[in-house]
Amino acid sequence: MSNIVVAGAQWGDEGKGKIVDLLTENVSVVARFQGGHNAGHTVVINKKKFILHLIPSGILHKGKICIIGNGVVIDPGALIQEIKGLKRKGIPVGKNLFISDSAHVIMPYHTAIDNQSERSAKKSKKIGTTGRGIGPAYMDKMSRAGIRIADLMDSRVFREKLKANLSFVNYLLVNKYKTRRISLEKIYAQYMKHAAFLETFVTDTSVLLNKYIEKGRNVLFEGAQGTLLDIDHGTYPFVTSSSASAGGVCTGLGVAPTRIDGVLGVVKAYTTRVGGGPFVTELKDKIGEYLRLKGGEYGATTGRPRRCGWLDAVGLRYAVRINGFTDIALTKLDVLDGMDKIKVCVAYKYDDPYRSCSCSKKGRSCRFTDIPHNNRILEACRPVYKELEGWSISTQGAKRFKDLPKQARAYIKYIEDLLGVKVSLISTGEKRDEVIVLKDPVTGRKK
Ligand code: GDP
Ligand code: IMO
Ligand code: MG
Repeated sequence: MSNIVVAGAQWGDEGKGKIVDLLTENVSVVARFQGGHNAGHTVVINKKKFILHLIPSGILHKGKICIIGNGVVIDPGALIQEIKGLKRKGIPVGKNLFISDSAHVIMPYHTAIDNQSERSAKKSKKIGTTGRGIGPAYMDKMSRAGIRIADLMDSRVFREKLKANLSFVNYLLVNKYKTRRISLEKIYAQYMKHAAFLETFVTDTSVLLNKYIEKGRNVLFEGAQGTLLDIDHGTYPFVTSSSASAGGVCTGLGVAPTRIDGVLGVVKAYTTRVGGGPFVTELKDKIGEYLRLKGGEYGATTGRPRRCGWLDAVGLRYAVRINGFTDIALTKLDVLDGMDKIKVCVAYKYDDPYRSCSCSKKGRSCRFTDIPHNNRILEACRPVYKELEGWSISTQGAKRFKDLPKQARAYIKYIEDLLGVKVSLISTGEKRDEVIVLKDPVTGRKK
């Protein structure tokens, strides 16, 4: 038995979708535990590209059970579109998909508030959300005003809750954001149609999942976003609104911590970020542009260009601590092909003009080897780089470690030493088989 979490180690888009798809072969169940359709997980199989938003990436394998857990926020319209889109591409979606009756529902007013609050925020305060209503939906969950899938399935309860929520929401929309009010009847009719479509997928997924675990079947817990976007551990407030690190599995699926056997951290060979917020290793020069073009760094959900930079070992060590990674999947190594030099940030340097830093070097230039939680300090941090040799030979599509140029092997070894965690998988291209498997994190088999 082996139940493994797959979690992003950076600011999302590390290539989790590809890694989950790869590992699904040896598991029975793939379960999402947080986030919503803000996620965009890309899987490329035989030149066909699939972008999964809410449905676990395991859906592309025949005969695997996919679960959308209670920690996920579900926009029913978006989910139905995704189901229909997959079916159009020949992927069966039916008895292989289950939705938690305790997951919270994203309502049209969540999306409206998300977009209006972003629009009215000052430039420096804009989070750059995906505009999918994620934050406001989690706000309602936490304030205990949320509507759950079980409520959606009960027309009377749904109508009552919707009516109660709209009285406040419409006040906000009209008076603060000066936009149109939302009609109860319109949403009610629309969501009742959604409910009828989704009804057969709904169940208590904690019961279901734990039955599989009891039977000794392998499970993958598929994370969305990444550790630095986690609501508690990320670069707050420039984060998403869910628990994107491994800790989210237990609350987001109703699975006990004692059931988790390992945590695979997905690490992109460099760093990217979409939206606002601090990014110490960001490259606003030609190298950043090169990474964006070569790596195809444009959002899988919104199409926005991703900000690019060098690998940040300060952030990664932090992610190792928060998630307890047992293995690492290093992705997009091939994007670094042809670079003369490659840099890794090993510490942050900070000159404190206000003498407000709490470290012992008060007022002088100090170094951080952990992410400071004061955003003003983090924004002012500069990277301390270790420079490594690049390589000119292509690694694209490499399937054996020994086929990698020695500088690429040295880069991987350097990352392992910095983080104290072994790299088990090395992804060398977007396609399913473009990967070097040193150890299968699910079966533990070494190659
Ligand atoms: P996720 O959100 O973590 O699943 O990642 P995304 O799908 O948003 O972004 C990763 C992008 O990189 C996708 O376009 C993948 O097809 C692509 N990708 C994944 N692994 C590799 C790799 O090793 N090399 C290259 N060149 N592309 C990759
Ligand atoms: P995957 O699963 C990268 C970012 C947004 C924004 C912040 C908050 O594909 O890795 P939200 O809409 O969640 O309230 O936006 O989080 N963000 C992501 N960035 N990958 C993602 O998902 C993301 N999901 C949200 O860009 O900065
Ligand atoms: Mg993505």
